[in-house]
This record gives sequence, C-alpha cells and structure tokens, in this order.
Amino acid sequence: MTASADTNIEADDFALADEFALATRTPLLPLLVGRIEAAGGRITFAEFMAQALGHPEHGYYSRAGLTWGRDGDYETSPEVHPIFGYLWARQALECWQRLGEPSSFALVEVGCGSGVFMRAMLTWLRVRAPRCFAAVRPVMLDGHPNRLVDQRTHLAGAGFEAEHVLTADWLARPDRITGVVISNEFFDALPVHLIRRDGETLVEQYVAHDGDAVHFVDGPLSTPAIEAYFARLGLQPGDGALAEVGLAASEAMHALASKVESGYVLSIDYGYPARDLYASWRRQGTLMAFRRHSPQPDPLAEPGRLDLTVHVDFTSLAAAAEGFAAAPLVSQAEALMALGLGDALRTASQHAAADAQRFAADRRAAEVLCEPEGLGRIRVLALAKGASLDGLRCLRSVIG
Ligand SMILES: C[S@@+](CC[C@H](N)C(=O)[O-])C[C@H]1O[C@@H](n2cnc3c(N)ncnc32)[C@H](O)[C@@H]1O
Repeated sequence: MTASADTNIEADDFALADEFALATRTPLLPLLVGRIEAAGGRITFAEFMAQALGHPEHGYYSRAGLTWGRDGDYETSPEVHPIFGYLWARQALECWQRLGEPSSFALVEVGCGSGVFMRAMLTWLRVRAPRCFAAVRPVMLDGHPNRLVDQRTHLAGAGFEAEHVLTADWLARPDRITGVVISNEFFDALPVHLIRRDGETLVEQYVAHDGDAVHFVDGPLSTPAIEAYFARLGLQPGDGALAEVGLAASEAMHALASKVESGYVLSIDYGYPARDLYASWRRQGTLMAFRRHSPQPDPLAEPGRLDLTVHVDFTSLAAAAEGFAAAPLVSQAEALMALGLGDALRTASQHAAADAQRFAADRRAAEVLCEPEGLGRIRVLALAKGASLDGLRCLRSVIG
C-alpha cells in the first residue's frame, strides 16, 4: 500500500503521508474503496462510471444542486439557445403529421438535464403548432430523482406540465406509445467497459485501489457480452488500442425502442459508426473527463466531481432498436440547417438594425451549434417503426 491520506499519523509518528491527495479526496472515494474491497480487489470501469455519475448522493448527475450550461462543467446544445429546441419541435411536428396526427402523441425525452430542451420544444409547439400541442403528452425521463425534481420546477416555471418519471419505472410499465423518443447527449453519459486488444486477446481494464486512490489494473473480460459485441460488429479495435464498449447504451436503446408501438427514436449524441469508433488508428478510445469546460487528464480522479463521457457506437445503437429502420447518420449542423436554422437567422437579420445586440447573440448561438470542431459534429441517429424516414426533414441533406 502506498502512502495515502488514510495513513494514521497518530499511530505512526509523522509517517510519510500524501497530504496533497487530501485535496482531491471526494466523499465517494471511500465508498468506492469499500466496493472494490467487497468485490475482491477490483471493479469494472463500467461499475466505477455508474457510481461516479450515478451514486444516489455523491454521483455527478445524481447529486443535489447540479449546475448546467455555462455555469457548469460543459455546455450542451439546448443550453446554448432555445432555437435548438424550437428546431427539434419542428421535427416532432412533422413526425406527428407522418403518424396521421394522433390525438394522443407521446413526446418522450430521455436524460433531460436542466429541462431546457423540453421547455423549448413545448414553447414552440404551443405558439406555432397548437393542434399538435393539444395532442402532445410530454414525458421526461431521467435516471436520478434530484434531476426529476429540478426538471419539474423548470417546466412549471414556464407553465408546462409533463410526466416526470424514472426511466426504469417508465420502462416497467406495460403500455406502448405512439410518438417520438428524443434525447440529447444521453447515451454518451452511460457507463462503458474499457478494454484493450492484446493480439488475439481482449483485456479489460478494471479499477483497483491502493489506500484511498484508485487506479487501473488489467484482467480478463468481465462478461462474454463484450466478445459477443465485437462478433456482432464483425470487427475489433486495433492491436494495442484502448476502446470502450457501451453495453448499457445498447441495453437502454433496446428497452426504449421496445416501448414504441409506432413512431420515431431520435438520438443526438457524440459518436461514430462502429467502423470509425474502432478504427485501427484510434489508439486511446474516446473516454473524456470534464471540469469547468476543461478536459481532465485522469478519468479516475475526484470521482463524483468530474463529468465522464464517451463517444457512442451508433452501429450498435441502431442494431439494438429491434424492428426499427435506421437512416444514415447526419451531423447536428446538417440536421439543424435542414430544420430551418439558416432561414430563422435570415428572418432574424431583418430586425438586426433595431436590435443589433440581440441579432449578434442569435448569430453567435447558431455558429456555436454548428461549429465543425464542436457541437456541430454531434450526430443524429434517426430510427422509425411503422412510419417513414424518407425525406424526414432533419435528414434532407443526405436523403433528399
Ligand atoms: C450529459 S447529460 C445531458 C442533459 C441534457 N439532455 C442536455 O442536453 O443538456 C445526461 C443526462 O442523462 C441523465 N441520465 C443518466 N442516467 C440516466 C438514465 N438511466 N435514464 C435517463 N436519464 C439518465 C442525467 O441525469 C442527465 O440529465
């Protein structure tokens, strides 16, 4: 065991202790150490990530008082400007029309953050598409009770009512929906297994501890599902390369898609098709840790205080949605332009002389949402069942 903040100085007069480590000790760390001990010395990275993001009290996403957007650790598209939600509401309207304008239309958002995305979508529908708005049954799913409370408050502040439900509870209900399941940066926040290819063998990276710090250790695969995952894809990561395996993302997609009788699943996320995600030139995988908008070097540091995120494997996600047709991926920039971002900006420019400051802010928001090195490279996976993808508005840049 190395010197650590757990070193008992009373028992061992001024023993060598790592006093700097105390500054990065989080309340979750001793609990993780306990879990690692109970599991016989190591846990999978997927378990570490599930705890770091979702421990009921100390998890990054589950804790009380989480801040979003510019004041948080990273900024998502709905936090940049409500135009993002307005444009996706236009897409929801088209989905409703394509489904024959049902009198009850589920608009289900998964992983709702602060609630701004749903709020913007409902605002647009209420003002621009009142018939559709009257049919909409908004459902906001999250994995954490604290988030549901914040989201309810946020929606109520704009005079909207939605159903706020834990994802697992919603999935357990027997009924199926007609409508749209939409998410922004949901799948990229789900736990992944970390693996490395060593010649013909796949090695898993586990999390172990020495005192009160955690570190990676190698071991055999924790589940045959990882080999099955790559067998289904018919590919492997490059020799010596690190990679993530999102079993939880595929399971979540499978479960969510199974709830849809007819309709669309629209998933907006950082990610690639499997052949790009696991391309032989990608050596370090895509796992990233964020704090105050800066990438952090160690994803194991300060568990519960850093946001952890990966790029998703869209090939496996699409395959997990049984019975659904999948469209070719489009970038967020392409989707937003197809949904009318350029037109909205042109219209806004007519008022530029009257309010130059507002127009400058609107134009800047449009740029941020489409930045090729930033949010614009997020991709959209559109899936449909009992409804057509042909000519769907958000896809018009690729399939006309
Ligand atoms: C990266 S944030 C994205 C938030 C929001 N969609 C946005 O774009 O600002 C991920 C969200 O997924 C939620 N989440 C985590 N696990 C979940 C689960 N099992 N079901 C639903 N939401 C979950 C988190 O609480 C958080 O609200």
